[in-house]
Amino acid sequence: MSDSPFANYQYEIYLQGMAGVKPDHPVSWADLEAAAHDALEPGPRGYLFGGACTEDTMRENLAAFRRHRLVPRMLHDVETRTTARTVLGTEMPAPIMLAPVGVQSILHPEGELASARGAATAGLVYTASTASSFTMEEIAEAGGDADQWFQLYWPRGEELAASLVKRAEAAGYKAIVVTLDTWLLGWRPRDLQEAYLPFLQGIGIANYLSDPVFRSTLPAPPEEDMGAAIGQFVGVFSNPAVTWEDLAFLREQTSLPIVLKGILSGADAERAREAGVDGLIVSNHGGRQVDGAIATLDALPEVVEAVGDDLAVLLDSGIRSGSDALKAIALGADAVMLGRPYLWGLATDGEAGVARTLRSFLADFDLAMALSGHRTIDEVGPAAVGQ
Ligand code: FNR
Repeated sequence: MSDSPFANYQYEIYLQGMAGVKPDHPVSWADLEAAAHDALEPGPRGYLFGGACTEDTMRENLAAFRRHRLVPRMLHDVETRTTARTVLGTEMPAPIMLAPVGVQSILHPEGELASARGAATAGLVYTASTASSFTMEEIAEAGGDADQWFQLYWPRGEELAASLVKRAEAAGYKAIVVTLDTWLLGWRPRDLQEAYLPFLQGIGIANYLSDPVFRSTLPAPPEEDMGAAIGQFVGVFSNPAVTWEDLAFLREQTSLPIVLKGILSGADAERAREAGVDGLIVSNHGGRQVDGAIATLDALPEVVEAVGDDLAVLLDSGIRSGSDALKAIALGADAVMLGRPYLWGLATDGEAGVARTLRSFLADFDLAMALSGHRTIDEVGPAAVGQ
């Protein structure tokens, strides 16, 4: 166990204050969110901030965290502590990862490369989306030595699916996250109002344009006929006919851990275990898919009860503070994924904004863990949360 360095970030800021220097960026999450909102054009703004239909689930994700309260415990000697944890063989300085998010070049020209670099600077694991603006190989390279995971949108055609997974393995990704909740796009009024879908402009399809299997199906290379490539992408992006039985195919393609993203019930968690996967992410895609879906924090206990001893259980959708992360961990999550907050950092200040957002989040998380009476993540259990 070592002294956690994360909380010391605040002293760095206070010390600079002694020299008359104040942060030149928003420190509170609300101010950062507002700054990102103002920095973006209407299309990208709606894409980042919007959810499905009435956005009820998007709000409910946040409300569930407000309904649960930490019950700090005193006099536990938290001077020496560590937030480190290993999840599915990936060592993490804290159980906090970056959720897969596509088309990030609509938020900042360096998009996923900036996010991967910012994550590496903070020491956190970045999850690269299939729908990234840069190729998975470029993102892996941007992350340097840092561990990363790869998120798969299961395409039509086994050959293409296999190719994407093999490329991820060859590029050094440490796990395959399969997203289960986006076979079709949810009804998203903000995007519809702007008639804005970046993929149709060829943004967010770099992994396809660079894929040998995908390219072999085109009448002409994308460099000569982008329109045809985009049309082909629309046809193969997703395969809504995939079932539990198909997971056996995926299992044959890779020796990496397989993590299913989008599980919201104990029953599906049990099916996942039977299918032989290694982990789950309790997620409703940040309220962007099924409006009215259960908040992830409310779904978590049933999933943990069903498979928590056998599979890694992660959670995203609505994590906005160190305390939120701590609540999810107390209720049984092995780790959480941060979504929109790191994108606010990206939209306002690129790589530096991502790194700073993550560093702030880690400091807040470390302090929440310590001040509520814990020295390690393993000590954080259900007793930490009241109602
Ligand atoms: C996403 N998410 C997502 N998920 C995924 O598996 N692949 C993807 O390409 C994307 N793309 C994406 C774009 C944008 C703009 C957002 C906001 C989200 C979902 C993401 O991984 C995660 O589940 C949510 O972001 C969690 O919700 P919050 O905490 O961001 O509200």
